[in-house]
Amino acid sequence: MSRRKIALIGGGQIGGILALIATQKELGDVVILDIPDFENPVKGKALDIMELRPHDGYDVNITGTSNYEDIAGADVIVITAGVPRKPGMSRDDLLDINLKIIKNVAENVKKYAPDAFVIVVSNPLDAIVYAFYKASGFPKNRIVGMAGALDSGRFRAFLAMETGYSVQDVQCLVLGGHGDEMVPLTRLATIGGVPATELVSPERLAEIEKRTRMAGGEIVKLLGNGSAFFSPAQSAMEMVESFLNDKKRIIPSAALCEGEYGINGLFIGVPTVIGAGGIEKILEVKLNDAEIAALKVTVEHVSAVVAETGL
Ligand code: NAI
Ligand code: 2OP
Repeated sequence: MSRRKIALIGGGQIGGILALIATQKELGDVVILDIPDFENPVKGKALDIMELRPHDGYDVNITGTSNYEDIAGADVIVITAGVPRKPGMSRDDLLDINLKIIKNVAENVKKYAPDAFVIVVSNPLDAIVYAFYKASGFPKNRIVGMAGALDSGRFRAFLAMETGYSVQDVQCLVLGGHGDEMVPLTRLATIGGVPATELVSPERLAEIEKRTRMAGGEIVKLLGNGSAFFSPAQSAMEMVESFLNDKKRIIPSAALCEGEYGINGLFIGVPTVIGAGGIEKILEVKLNDAEIAALKVTVEHVSAVVAETGL
């Protein structure tokens, strides 16, 4: 059996960590593609990772390139091409530049890897994944945005930090767009099967919910240049792994909604089942009135940014 192929479009901060994690999980051969001006740095990152393999014995190959012919036959593609935000910028401030980039990337992916499962990471996430969908014509099961995995992961981390219990035992779901109006479903969070509402005070839960919504900005401010990259890479690789190994994990992701949650024609964060068929299903959770109202706010925000794409 030949090895699977993972193509990473964009070999910056997240792209480099994605390549490292894919190698350490031996998920398949990795191609890191960037613009010609950044070809040498991605070749350097690829070679650096090739040279770490002997220590733990990872039998996969990593290459760097700026030539789209090298992504041919990719099973899965993760797109981080674009620019990240700087302190004071919102994710939406990146729309103009990242929209031009994603249209170019979509044309090339359609030409060279038309059968791949595509995970978009570039911001503003919900609009950029929509733009890829429109520009590529890919079927909705093979195009998804990564955000909910990261946002839920942050919520889980904060609840574990609060209680001191294992992060492994914390389960949470965050719905909506990848912006400050995202909807952490605190009501459904559990720690070892026990509702978080029975273990943490309402005041602290409200603070943790707010920290989750603002978590991207918290890291942007601390880093001073660029945005989070370790946890976004781990989150996207969780989706890659579920697809390649047909795990059918339930991962909140920006999927095309066609009636689910009353949303039509937008990519927005909802619980998805990811397996060999890509986005195999969207799970619908019964929401209460406050959650429905909060979801409406984030959907309106995403809808406004998507309208700006003109697509
Ligand atoms: P980065 O600046 O380190 O890397 C981006 C890479 O894209 C650069 O190497 C750049 O040369 C490359 N690039 C630019 N135009 C390209 C093109 N036309 N084709 C191929 N490559 C191209 O940025 P980083 O930190 O890796 O973040 C990448 C994106 O991910 C940003 O838009 C950021 O806002 C977003 N992001 C999204 C998250 C999410 O949860 N969805 C979380 C964190 C970041
Ligand atoms: C994050 O949430 C900026 O989207 C990026 O870290």
